[in-house]
Amino acid sequence: MALRDIIVDPNPTLRKKCRPVEVFDEKLGKLLDDMRETMIHADGVGLAGPQVGILRRIAVIQVDDFYIEFVNPEIVKRKGSQVGPEACLSVPGKSCEVKRPNEVTVYYQDRYGKEMSVTAEGFIARAFCHEIDHLDGVLYYDHSSQK
Ligand code: CO
Repeated sequence: MALRDIIVDPNPTLRKKCRPVEVFDEKLGKLLDDMRETMIHADGVGLAGPQVGILRRIAVIQVDDFYIEFVNPEIVKRKGSQVGPEACLSVPGKSCEVKRPNEVTVYYQDRYGKEMSVTAEGFIARAFCHEIDHLDGVLYYDHSSQK
């Protein structure tokens, strides 16, 4: 495994729409391993492809003991709402309140291409929304009224 450099806002790479992953090979697994290591090293709870310069639809999320890798994730169901503080490894030293669904269901693939789904609420649902936004070039403060 290896640490990757995290791209910092403003940078056009963070604003691009990512393409789907089509090849599920060892290179993808290695990239996801590197992203997990980079996220943990930076003390973050999530990291998306564009943040390490990869414009593909991939993200990793770790909240306490819960770890998940998203390949080609799509939010298929949203329920309720929550407002809470968010920050981003690509926007160092900043934070603001963001409104998100309280519960989301995500369809995604694992690193081998297997189709999966997951439902989460609260902080993990917030992390899912934040990371999946990155894949469409959206940063969390885009949702804030206190920009
Ligand atoms: Co972020």
